[in-house]
Amino acid sequence: MQSLTLKSPAKLNLFLKVLNKRPDGYHNLETIFERIDLCDVVGFRSNRSGRIRIACAHPEVPLGPKNLVYKAAQLLQKEFGIREGVDIKIAKRIPVAAGLAGGSSNAATTLLGLNQVWGLGLSRQKLVELGARLGSDVPFFLYDASWALGTGRGDQIKPLDIRAKLWHIIVVPRRKMYSREVFTALNLELTKNNHDVNILLRSLRKGSLEKAARLLFNDLETSILSICPKLLTVKKRLQACDVPGVAFSGSGPAVYGLVASQEKARHLQKKLNRFYKQVFAAATL
Ligand code: C5P
Repeated sequence: MQSLTLKSPAKLNLFLKVLNKRPDGYHNLETIFERIDLCDVVGFRSNRSGRIRIACAHPEVPLGPKNLVYKAAQLLQKEFGIREGVDIKIAKRIPVAAGLAGGSSNAATTLLGLNQVWGLGLSRQKLVELGARLGSDVPFFLYDASWALGTGRGDQIKPLDIRAKLWHIIVVPRRKMYSREVFTALNLELTKNNHDVNILLRSLRKGSLEKAARLLFNDLETSILSICPKLLTVKKRLQACDVPGVAFSGSGPAVYGLVASQEKARHLQKKLNRFYKQVFAAATL
């Protein structure tokens, strides 16, 4: 196969509990990932030059070795002695450094795409192992799963048999946040709570939206707000729009709410667009 174009979806974390800090500096988590239909599109075309060339019109996306997409392609070249190169075109819709894991998703899509374009025949297990080397959020996107439980540093994935299709309103403030700074600012004393992931899982399995909305949880919230207290306004503004469940996704700053329908999501999108440039209506994918 010479070329291939794939969708690269974003994720939300409906639950994120930090369990402890590990000797390697990472934190053990318990998190629920939801894949959503806010997607980038990534195109791959193999070339004979051996070079990895990235094209992307978005000004904040690096085109060189700093890009996780570049790292993913390079990792495959090195690991399997691949002489071919690749031209990669990224159409970016997922905001950068927002807590929606756009970069990690693009890296996973690159592993999946090049597995086909370069004819590597790698198993899911091998791809997951490689993905985990690139970033904690990468493995989730290597499973064809709308929902998953993430443990370890978020890289141990168990797909979940949840059928619910939820609608969300997502606000992405301009302030960028990086996982490293949010985890560094985290006070582990404040994370000792008794939130139980199974209660939320049960209401998601039952499709009980109102109950699920009350159970959204993110241990990184205090840390996100300690770095940028102004983000509380975003959360409050969503709550004031009568959205029952509002939370930060991952290490933020994206704030999302569960809403009852696509109509409601679109209505809120228009309303919130008066205050924020980046507002999305998105559903489970
Ligand atoms: O794995 P990833 O490269 O996305 O992680 C970026 C940074 O976020 C890590 O260097 C670490 O500081 C922090 N992190 C963490 N615990 C996790 C995931 C990320 O401390 N489970």
